Amino acid sequence: MSLMPVTVYGDSILRETAKPILSVDDEIIQNIHDLFETMRNANGIGLAANQVGLNKKMFIIDLKGVDGYDDFKPLVVINPEIIEYSDELIIMEEGCLSLPDLRADVERSEFIKIKYLDTDEELQEFEAESWLARVILHEYDHLIGKMIPDRVEPRIKQKLKGDLIRIMKRDIETDYQITERG
Ligand code: NI
Repeated sequence: MSLMPVTVYGDSILRETAKPILSVDDEIIQNIHDLFETMRNANGIGLAANQVGLNKKMFIIDLKGVDGYDDFKPLVVINPEIIEYSDELIIMEEGCLSLPDLRADVERSEFIKIKYLDTDEELQEFEAESWLARVILHEYDHLIGKMIPDRVEPRIKQKLKGDLIRIMKRDIETDYQITERG
């Protein structure tokens, strides 16, 4: 297993649409281990493949540290599709390992339904709400090249501008490794 540097805002791979995974082979399993190691080292609760430089349509989630999710089993989500979005929207504050030190209120559906492949290539489908729905939507966004600043009102995005420039210049400190400026 290896720790991977985390890509940050401005890295072009974070703007790419992730390529579907054709088979869950040894390389993908290795990638999944690397994702977990990198996410845990950075105290994250979700990580998409392009956040470690891989253009692959998958992400992982582990909510164990979050209130009310003590029994959460780490989730590996391959080739996801969001098949239902609730009309009920909810605003919650989000952060992202690719946006160090930045937090912003983001409005998203409160409930969603997702389908995806698990690591046995079995099709899974379930409904998620609250934090799990939120994290799934955030990670799914990464796979279509979207990030928090794309999901906030223009007025808020304007306020984030200084922080985004600092991140792109690497004028920030993180307790996990990030990519060097391209
Ligand atoms: Ni993120």
